[in-house]
Amino acid sequence: MDRIQLLQGDITEMHVDAIVNAANRSLLGGGGVDGAIHRAAGPKLKEACAKLNGCETGQAKITTAYRLPSRYVIHTVGPVWHGGEIGEKQQLASAYQNSLILAKEHKLKTIAFPNISTGVYAFPKELAAKIAIQTVLEFLDDDDWFEEVTFCVYDDENYKIYQDLLNV
Ligand code: APR
Repeated sequence: MDRIQLLQGDITEMHVDAIVNAANRSLLGGGGVDGAIHRAAGPKLKEACAKLNGCETGQAKITTAYRLPSRYVIHTVGPVWHGGEIGEKQQLASAYQNSLILAKEHKLKTIAFPNISTGVYAFPKELAAKIAIQTVLEFLDDDDWFEEVTFCVYDDENYKIYQDLLNV
């Protein structure tokens, strides 16, 4: 748990090796954290994303971060919540896991996640937090590569949920 950090704030302001974007399958930007990241990174981010040919749910792709303070952006696509009976939980876990795998492949040591799928995609926040924390803890238990994984929460509800689950 010592390599996990909880932070309430704007992920576009974080000085880490990679911030993770909760994107959609087009990777061409949107609202929420996706919109904030594209606004802060500048138009070259969308140009770079346009060459990636989209991203499947649960998968992850990487670009540099342009005007953002982080070095890279890992774009992942979380599931849209449809009640939890069509694999959404596993897809959300895959989004976290594949982002970590991709970050390690690029020899990145610090990474920050937003609360993937808990906004527009309407994934229940408590369940999403449990999946996020479990997936990250399992990865860190097996692998000492990362120096720090930050859960960057934005809203008070998520912050309280993560504080309770992380006992911080
Ligand atoms: N920094 C950190 N977290 C943020 C920020 C920010 N600047 N802005 C929003 N968030 C939080 C939201 O409060 C929410 O908890 O990110 C979480 C994810 O919400 P969304 O951004 O709506 O992402 P998601 O639910 O995964 O839906 C993805 O929304 O923006 C579109 O293009 C995106 O179609 C995709 C869909």
